[in-house]
Amino acid sequence: MDALPITPAKPAIPPAFFGETVTWVHHWTDKQFSFRCTRDPALRFVAGQFAMIGLMVNGKPLVRAYSMVSPPWDEELEFLSIKVQDGPLTSRLQHIQVGDTVLIGKKPTGTLLIENLLPGRTLWMVSTGTGMAPFMSLVREPEVYEKYEKVVLMHGVREVKELAYHDYLQKDLPEHEFLGEMLRDKLLYYPTVTREAFRTQGRVTTLLDSGQVNADLGLPPLSPEHDRVMLCGSEAMNADVKALLEARGFVEGSNNEPGTYVLEKAFVTK
Ligand code: A2P
Repeated sequence: MDALPITPAKPAIPPAFFGETVTWVHHWTDKQFSFRCTRDPALRFVAGQFAMIGLMVNGKPLVRAYSMVSPPWDEELEFLSIKVQDGPLTSRLQHIQVGDTVLIGKKPTGTLLIENLLPGRTLWMVSTGTGMAPFMSLVREPEVYEKYEKVVLMHGVREVKELAYHDYLQKDLPEHEFLGEMLRDKLLYYPTVTREAFRTQGRVTTLLDSGQVNADLGLPPLSPEHDRVMLCGSEAMNADVKALLEARGFVEGSNNEPGTYVLEKAFVTK
């Protein structure tokens, strides 16, 4: 009798996770990459939420919170990650390849939700680094354009090459087969770079505080009367924008009570 081929046993997926297959990987820089994977039809989420994502390591799940980049209507899932050479998860995750298995938590959650904001006229999405991930989902959520007259996506990074999704936002999305018409006159993408020359320079905080961004986009000064803000970035950026907003009378919303702004930190730092 022929010997059976020996294949290494794949670790069982713990019940809190779906085991999904990587379908695409794109490295933006030596510090940032995106990947897509299959999506179990049972996974439900709302634009702006995050899930626990990761890998089986030594037979155990090693996971971190990652916001979905893909919109809820996408049949696959997409994520944006930093790469930290000695980071427990990202030192491994950055090497994933098409066909590999990733863990996707079954219970997405989060506060960057349209329903956590009171009705308003302009929705501001303010992000730094990989904090723009949840906003990539939100800018492709039709409900956003039903509820707001203008939608601003600010993305602050150190160097031009860190402007992940720049070309997609600038060129492809306004031409999108189904969304293009809905968002073309409403979505205002505002990338800014702090450590090299670019058409817009400076920290998101400085541009908001001085009103430069409002002037550039032809929008009135920030006010809790008609503006709604979502924040996602480093703890320092979140704290600075929070202070700036509260000084102008904005009130933080939560899953229990809607407000005039909401925030979430860009989670993965290792
Ligand atoms: P800067 O270059 O002036 O530090 P990082 O890569 O460190 O996460 O930074 C991403 C972007 O966020 C950079 O442009 C950085 O600007 C900016 N940044 C860092 N701290 C703050 C803050 N407290 N408020 C606003 N922007 C910030």
